[in-house]
Amino acid sequence: MRLEEVDSSAWLALEGAPEDPQSGFRFIDLCSVDRGGRPQARVVVLRRVDRLERLVEIHTDTRSQKWVELSNNPIATILGFCASARVQLRLSGTVRLHPPGSDLANHAWSKLSSWTRSTYAGGPPGDEPNQDEINSFTSGADADGKAFFGVVLFQAESLDWFELGKPTNRRAILDYDNAGVLTASRWVNP
Ligand SMILES: Cc1cc2nc3c(=O)[nH]c(=O)nc-3n(C[C@H](O)[C@H](O)[C@H](O)COP(=O)(O)O)c2cc1C
Repeated sequence: MRLEEVDSSAWLALEGAPEDPQSGFRFIDLCSVDRGGRPQARVVVLRRVDRLERLVEIHTDTRSQKWVELSNNPIATILGFCASARVQLRLSGTVRLHPPGSDLANHAWSKLSSWTRSTYAGGPPGDEPNQDEINSFTSGADADGKAFFGVVLFQAESLDWFELGKPTNRRAILDYDNAGVLTASRWVNP
């Protein structure tokens, strides 16, 4: 495989993941840095990928810690592993936050199912729930969570690609400019 193929196969896999229930990249780890310099990781749903611009879209509650952390420090890492492809992708980049009411947040919200919308309607993530919020865990109440719905748009600056043994492990580093153009690529020892 050539380095250009490493690049295209990785981004095609990412772009197809949101619509592919079998893809290991449907759920990825989004890692930010908190005010104390401590790395913070959590699983999120990969919502949309633009492979030409190297953009990854994630949805979240703007009252969450990740939103606060990314507001203070836009540097982020996305980590994914697909067991069937035997590939780990580690993307380094920065995020732009699109808050409630922004064009991108409104557009993304308009496409969500009512169940997904309802997940934004509870109390602030991480806070202790009040009795109404505890009741809504079981009743599935669907109040309007749009006021808390934000979009995280991650722009990849580099990709660390790692493939498990076929027949040996392989690893490559790929760099991108602001427009998503591949500017450098090299094999490295796994
Ligand atoms: C399979 C799975 C998918 C998840 N998807 C999302 C998601 O798309 N967006 C999100 O904000 N949290 C998602 N979560 C919850 C986060 O992992 C995390 O627990 C929560 O957002 C609070 O994180 P924070 O306090 O670091 O902001 C998901 C959790 C799991 C287990």
